[in-house]
Amino acid sequence: MQGWKGRRGADGFVPGALGLASSAFSLLRDLVAQRTGVYYSDSKGDLLVERVSELMAARGLSSLLDYYYLLKYDPDAETAWTELRDRLAVPETYFWRQPEQFEALVDVLMPRYLAERRRTPVRIWSAACCSGEEPLSIAMALSEGGWLDRVPVEIVGSDASPALVERARRGVYGDRSLRNLPPALRERYFEREGAGWRFDPRLHARVRWRTANLMDPGEAGPLAEVDVIYCRNVLIYFSDDGIRHVARLFAERMPASGHLFLGASESLMRLSTDFVMREIGSAFVYVKNAGPLGG
Ligand SMILES: C[S@@+](CC[C@H](N)C(=O)[O-])C[C@H]1O[C@@H](n2cnc3c(N)ncnc32)[C@H](O)[C@@H]1O
Repeated sequence: MQGWKGRRGADGFVPGALGLASSAFSLLRDLVAQRTGVYYSDSKGDLLVERVSELMAARGLSSLLDYYYLLKYDPDAETAWTELRDRLAVPETYFWRQPEQFEALVDVLMPRYLAERRRTPVRIWSAACCSGEEPLSIAMALSEGGWLDRVPVEIVGSDASPALVERARRGVYGDRSLRNLPPALRERYFEREGAGWRFDPRLHARVRWRTANLMDPGEAGPLAEVDVIYCRNVLIYFSDDGIRHVARLFAERMPASGHLFLGASESLMRLSTDFVMREIGSAFVYVKNAGPLGG
């Protein structure tokens, strides 16, 4: 490990000064990757140590190894994992991000699902929804397309960070979250609330919110039994093993010809998975077992 050795955190914690720092770091990094999917390469190690050091200081711990034991064996481990998931989350998201993927749903997939009438309701999962902008964008797109009045649709938004899911449940957003949203949609679906914007409560109520870790089959498995998954801008932080684990879980749980949208800089192409890539409208989508709905 280069970089973080000897650096002093805000709380005075000095990672490099600890005995066993390097091997303890590797243990901790591997445990974090195994449990959260997120892998901190050597160049990002300082980020992990910096974030973890604040949580350690709050618990009066001064060694990475002690923190590792806490996460691995302590009766209070689940609380420590919750704190860690909140601390490690990268809460970067905004409304109407990659709108072509919402258009593909509204203009192409929904008509196909309806024509086929093979499964109602149509189920959609935003699998790392951060503070909720993504599933609420899906709800807006479906509302704009008139689908919410015509067909039963279920939308679930989940994230590993309970603090972010709590923000999603509140449904109030700052200007930054609306930076890519067409003004007409802002007019229709938002109202000023203090310095922020409150999302239309009626439409907000169409989304069910959950805390779920993608790496935990008990939490993510049942949510993955849906027609469409948006899992965007999260696998980019995962190790290849983590990505494979998630792709396998999705493939096992989604119905045949389920559709999976990833972020613009994410791909399953270099890994062997049960998904093939297709172009639907002007969006790329991964299709499980390309069947009649495989595009
Ligand atoms: C950069 S945000 C992406 C938000 C949204 N999907 C988008 O594309 O705008 C990444 C989110 O992934 C979540 N995340 C990280 N690891 C996760 C995991 N193992 N399970 C579920 N969510 C996770 C983080 O908490 C964070 O909210």
